[in-house]
Amino acid sequence: MNSTAYLSGFGNEFATEARPGVLPEGRNSPQRPALGLYAEQLSGTAFTAPRGENRRSWLYRLRPSAEHPPFRLHEQRGWLSGPFEGPVSPNRLRWNPLPFAGAPTDFVSGMFTYGGNGSPAQQSGAAIHGYVASLSMTDAAFFNADGELLIVPQEGALRLVTELGVLLVEPSEIAVIPRGMRVRVELISAAAEGEAARPARGYVCENYGAPFRLPELGPIGSNGLANPRDFLTPCAAFEQVERPTLLVQKFHGQLWSTTVQHSPFNVVGWHGNYAPYKYDLRKFNTIGTVSFDHPDPSIFTVLTSPTDTRGTANVDFVIFPPRWMVGENTFRPPWFHRNVMSEFMGLIHGAYDAKADGFVPGGASLHNCMSAHGPDVATTAKAMSAELVPHKIDSTLAFMFETRLVIAPTDQALGSPAHQQNYDACWQGFPSSRL
Ligand SMILES: [Fe+2]
Repeated sequence: MNSTAYLSGFGNEFATEARPGVLPEGRNSPQRPALGLYAEQLSGTAFTAPRGENRRSWLYRLRPSAEHPPFRLHEQRGWLSGPFEGPVSPNRLRWNPLPFAGAPTDFVSGMFTYGGNGSPAQQSGAAIHGYVASLSMTDAAFFNADGELLIVPQEGALRLVTELGVLLVEPSEIAVIPRGMRVRVELISAAAEGEAARPARGYVCENYGAPFRLPELGPIGSNGLANPRDFLTPCAAFEQVERPTLLVQKFHGQLWSTTVQHSPFNVVGWHGNYAPYKYDLRKFNTIGTVSFDHPDPSIFTVLTSPTDTRGTANVDFVIFPPRWMVGENTFRPPWFHRNVMSEFMGLIHGAYDAKADGFVPGGASLHNCMSAHGPDVATTAKAMSAELVPHKIDSTLAFMFETRLVIAPTDQALGSPAHQQNYDACWQGFPSSRL
């Protein structure tokens, strides 16, 4: 299963075979699929979802997924799930990076929930996690019945073995694993031979709601932001492995596991539009002002999960990439504001233009509904006195998960040693106007 060939395009009707002739012609479910395979449909939207939103794929595999024993509860204390209850602090929060030190973990056991909203039961809302992994998953697979996983690596590249093929993803790239799709997360070691793999760290948005899609472009026109052709979906690849494999699923807020006697990565060919994908954020066509005023950060939206309310997202994934700042007579950092939407930010590398310090790569911040925020005192003073020549913000990549509902921080996130106790201090000491 070494193939890492890709098909390009967002949400296309893909068709791919790891052995020629395994996809049936003119039908999906022939009496006897080629090579003795089993045909199986995987539906990511209701059968009756409108044609433009309908997502499903047909998988042709060595054994049907149905061949498994009962699942039993599987302990993992750090991965928490909605509904997120209890009093929710309105305070602005910021965290240092999750530490690498600690017991060895893989992608699933190393998941740590910062907070979230909504619930899997309602298929609405999202949870926000960080992961720290020092181990590849071995003879193990995971799938999430509660939502899709948007993975944002911050340290260390990952090899994502999925039912539909293999994705290699490194920091500055993202990957989306659809709801229900089996995945095995392996670390790609940059270490010398014989040394342990370097730990991997990153962020995950577990989207309980409608699948991510590209945002509308409106007056921007038919091109721009994340262009569809830059999204990559794996070509079919499979492994024929007959040995015990731990199969873990997240279902209705809990982890469950069972053991199957073969690898679930046994899909020899597939077709359809429900598939994992990756995207290189360095390919984002960043659009900003060429006259005055910093636009709303929605101009940097990569992917959006809509709700039933037009224009109001369950989750938006937004990035702050390298870009030219040219606004005339303009306060150029992201402006001070209070927002009905709630904002969780992370930093992949570099420095974010609204914070002079304290927000470091691998760190995170949370500004909930109507929390006042904006540049810190030092950044504000610098921006107000800067000579407004064209300026390139370079070598940085921050992102935001922006959601409709309040993001309730978990007790473990509030009690973590990574939680900074003095975040408010960055906004203390603004000189007051004297009228
Ligand atoms: Fe904001």
